[in-house]
Amino acid sequence: MAAQPEDQFKNVISHAKEYGFVFQSSEIYDGLSAVYDYGQNGALLKNNIKEYWWRSMVQLHENIVGIDSAIFMHPQVWKASGHVDAFNDPMIDNKDSKKRYRADVLIEDHMEKIRGKADKEVAKAAKRFGESFDEAMFRETNPRVQKYVEQVADINKRFVDALERNDLEALRNVIVDEGITCPVSGSKNWTEVRQFNLMFGTKMGSVAEDASDLYLRPETAQGIFVNFLNVQKTGRMKIPFGIAQIGKAFRNEIVARQFIFRMREFEQMEMQYFVRPGEEMKWYEFWKEQRIKWHKMLNLGDDAYRFHDHEKMAHYANAAADIEFDFPFGFKELEGIHSRTDFDLSRHQEESGKKLQYFDPEVGENYVPYVVETSIGLDRMFLALISKAYEEETLEDGSTRTVMHLPLPLAPIKAAILPLTKKDGLPDLAREIFDDLKFEFQVQYDEKDAIGKRYRRQDAVGTPLCITVDFDSLEDRTVTIRHRDSMEQERVAIDALSDRLRALVSMETLLKKL
Ligand code: GAP
Repeated sequence: MAAQPEDQFKNVISHAKEYGFVFQSSEIYDGLSAVYDYGQNGALLKNNIKEYWWRSMVQLHENIVGIDSAIFMHPQVWKASGHVDAFNDPMIDNKDSKKRYRADVLIEDHMEKIRGKADKEVAKAAKRFGESFDEAMFRETNPRVQKYVEQVADINKRFVDALERNDLEALRNVIVDEGITCPVSGSKNWTEVRQFNLMFGTKMGSVAEDASDLYLRPETAQGIFVNFLNVQKTGRMKIPFGIAQIGKAFRNEIVARQFIFRMREFEQMEMQYFVRPGEEMKWYEFWKEQRIKWHKMLNLGDDAYRFHDHEKMAHYANAAADIEFDFPFGFKELEGIHSRTDFDLSRHQEESGKKLQYFDPEVGENYVPYVVETSIGLDRMFLALISKAYEEETLEDGSTRTVMHLPLPLAPIKAAILPLTKKDGLPDLAREIFDDLKFEFQVQYDEKDAIGKRYRRQDAVGTPLCITVDFDSLEDRTVTIRHRDSMEQERVAIDALSDRLRALVSMETLLKKL
């Protein structure tokens, strides 16, 4: 029987630790909350995701270039970008449990509960009426369901209104009026709602008096904006063009949970596409389509993705959508595509007093370009992959195996070279194959334990191919390739191994499909 989603998630987390993918940071000191380290297999998988993203952006588009900007930036950057004033979460504390919550999350969870009650009524009726049940009609006419629907609509109206007016008291009133209780203490003893800035502060300079206050960047995008003219001029870039970057970002998330889904230190892969004002919607649609294609190429299942168009936009955007992924805890944001207008460049222009304009030869005009951004969390992408890839499979003979069906070009180890026994010259030939393949592929040599046990070890880390060297190999220089997903075997000449591996696991095969 398939595991329940919450059990499946627990299994994924413990598997990630047991097989060297993800460790809690500073574990021997009991860990640091919402900070994680990547182990030997995790680091390889992460690098492969980065390669897939970077090459699809920078190598496949002649008008996109990549940079690597510093984490520390001038403090004025964050004033200009709006992060000092507006990068806040509304927080509320329960006085009895001393637990802190995001006020908006408490209200959203409460609405979800009421929707759940309506769904229960529908499910009950469906059972009662059987085949003849008309769900749409029932939802529209049943008084109890209608009552729940109206209740949610009322709360949502007050909630959105309070958020839009940034009215913290009104937000608190929703919590109090709705009788929302603390999930830990069960009490309604709430503090005021306060804004909590998500940026981590630090100091630069050795002497306390002369030190200046800095922030750890909460997004990589600003490193791109402040370098917009440097790149445009030195690269002689013509609009439309893009600048891509992969790098660390830091947010003092209050409610950090769900493993590597919401972390305090994480990595982003962002691309800013600079376009002519007025053409941003065309490019916004273009990048939505490109990005969903990039995801679907990984074959995790098309129904694992959906778009969520934003109704309430961030302060800088005139259109925004998330690509949501079907994580074990439900559909949640994986990537954001935002039409950021000229907000950032204009604000940096004002704050720095330096012109950040582009002369467009085609229209004979200077202007501040508009920007369409694609922004994906590398760690979230990692979580999406491992949670979909993980399977406890029951085989035909009734035995089970744990297997990670990772997309082949992203697998940490592409092939394991396994001599059938430790003697009779088999390890020598296996080592010869390993030494030949290692220049092009991440391969592993393993001679310990029975062959079946070695196959299982490789299945558990998602190695797509196991190459077994047996006694026939010494005679005819052929080996057996055993495929991870089908467990089928094929006999291949040692001389043809590189070509076979390249056809099956190379990044190029994936990139060519884009
Ligand atoms: N530059 C735009 C920007 O930063 P965002 O929606 O705040 O937009 C973009 O973040 C992506 O970064 C998200 O879709 C998510 O994948 C990832 N991300 C954001 N906060 C994160 C966190 N605390 N932990 C892990 N990933 C995070």
